[in-house]
Amino acid sequence: MFPRKSVWGLASTLILVGLVFAACGTPATPRVEPLTNAPPAARTPSTPRQKIEVFSWWVGGGEAAGLEAMIKIFKAKYPDIDFINAAVAGGAGTNARAVLASRLQAGDPPDSWQGHAGQELIGTYVKAHQLESLNFLYEQEHWLNVMPKTLIPLISQDGQIYSVPVNIHRANVLWYNPRILAKYNLPVPATLDEFIADLDKLSSTSVIPLAMGEQWTAMHLFETILLSTLGPDRYSGLWTGKTDWSGPETRKALENFEMVLRYTNSDASTLSWQDAAQLVVNGDAAFNIMGDWNEAYFKELGKIPKVDYGWTPVPGTAGVFQFLSDSFVLPVGAPNREGTIDWLKLAGSKEGQDAFNPVKGSIPARNDADRSLYDEYSRSAMDDWASDIVVGSLYHGVVANDSWKTEINTDLGIFLTDKNIDTLQAALVSACKSSGPCQ
Ligand code: GAL
Repeated sequence: MFPRKSVWGLASTLILVGLVFAACGTPATPRVEPLTNAPPAARTPSTPRQKIEVFSWWVGGGEAAGLEAMIKIFKAKYPDIDFINAAVAGGAGTNARAVLASRLQAGDPPDSWQGHAGQELIGTYVKAHQLESLNFLYEQEHWLNVMPKTLIPLISQDGQIYSVPVNIHRANVLWYNPRILAKYNLPVPATLDEFIADLDKLSSTSVIPLAMGEQWTAMHLFETILLSTLGPDRYSGLWTGKTDWSGPETRKALENFEMVLRYTNSDASTLSWQDAAQLVVNGDAAFNIMGDWNEAYFKELGKIPKVDYGWTPVPGTAGVFQFLSDSFVLPVGAPNREGTIDWLKLAGSKEGQDAFNPVKGSIPARNDADRSLYDEYSRSAMDDWASDIVVGSLYHGVVANDSWKTEINTDLGIFLTDKNIDTLQAALVSACKSSGPCQ
């Protein structure tokens, strides 16, 4: 689990940053590079128009609105900069990340892009020396006073901070249709056994017990079942080499995953996450396990919380917050470095985060949000984020680098067809050896 109170795989980084915090007194500040960005040059009417291209995957229902809210502020603040929204469709960045990878390979980076805090950032872009350190901006904007101490180590390497987190999302949420549960007299499940009992009862009705979408949503489901079965310590140990991928507990998690999959819709591979979520609020399915971007989508559809949809932690994970964080970066060779820094300043500001998050379903990364702007779900997420044990998401970039995640994704793809638990477990053991910490 993450070190709100304890330690996880990036402990060494945390300790390093912690030591530097301690050395600098209060408020804690990591080693900061000298201020390197000069104040922006005056933009006279004769200055050619600038543009910045910002890359993300926030195109679909419930996603675009958050980004648009920030773009609106950016345009008002910087009327002389054209904002190019280079978002590429596809939930969880399935398409966007491939497009980004080929652009980076071709030496054609956008000015900034969306990257997940954790191993996606550190094990991919930082490792490939594609990003500039942002210590100067953290110092200038005093962000270390407002960004969570849990998060800084996950976006840092060797004392350098590499991104600006705009939010915190929760992965381990079970969304349900309250009318369906009431109709069939089913309790909101708190444990995996209760969940499976509900699913089983629903399987003899016309309702889809558990709505699922394309493959990445199966991997999302998978990581929550791993957490639910193993608990936070052993789940986090999977990513540090402490938990045995070949052990009986992991096997039990795979069996639970296989069991839960039996109750999903047969057309899952043709559905987006929005399609699957919509099955719940339209009354076609009882449950869906998905991140809290679902909430933004439901609201965009005009659905009413507690009436059209309810939420609870994925059964067996109460008290644990499986998190991910979207952040923006400054690439080496950003075509418009100065304009990109303006964008990052907005992304890290209270104003930017309080515009983005209430419509995105996430909570601000900053700890000084205006709570009154957030709805009941988001306020409950803020409370849980402040008090729960925190662990990282697999699909959304926190715990595994890209090559490990890709291997797991391939293994799961095979499993979705053959349902062979032995083969899956053996493949996961070997993925940890080839791309993870299991030597
Ligand atoms: C996640 C991302 C979220 C949301 C989700 C669905 O990876 O962090 O902000 O966009 O994918 O597309």
